[in-house]
Amino acid sequence: MIYLTDRNGEKHSLDAVEGWRVMEIIREHGFMQGICDGLCECATCHVYVDEPWVEKLYPAQDQEVDLLDELPDYEESSRLSCQIIYDETLDGLSLTIAEAA
Ligand code: FES
Repeated sequence: MIYLTDRNGEKHSLDAVEGWRVMEIIREHGFMQGICDGLCECATCHVYVDEPWVEKLYPAQDQEVDLLDELPDYEESSRLSCQIIYDETLDGLSLTIAEAA
């Protein structure tokens, strides 16, 4: 299960599939586009990771960091959700979709 706050501040519980990118799960539920399909090129999958999950995720790799650095609404909790693969350790992951994503 993923808990998602949408751009209107409304909270949603999303059924999650192990092995899917978190972007794909959110997109499947109709909340984001994921235009580049996970190639780390578009940032339409930008989310803020809610506490305490920031520390629990593996760190962003160079390509993700480079793209995040270019975003005007970047925050320390920013991640590209296409770069996070969902597994059982992420059950309950809580995210907020970035305004411009
Ligand atoms: S879907 Fe394009 S960067 Fe994540």
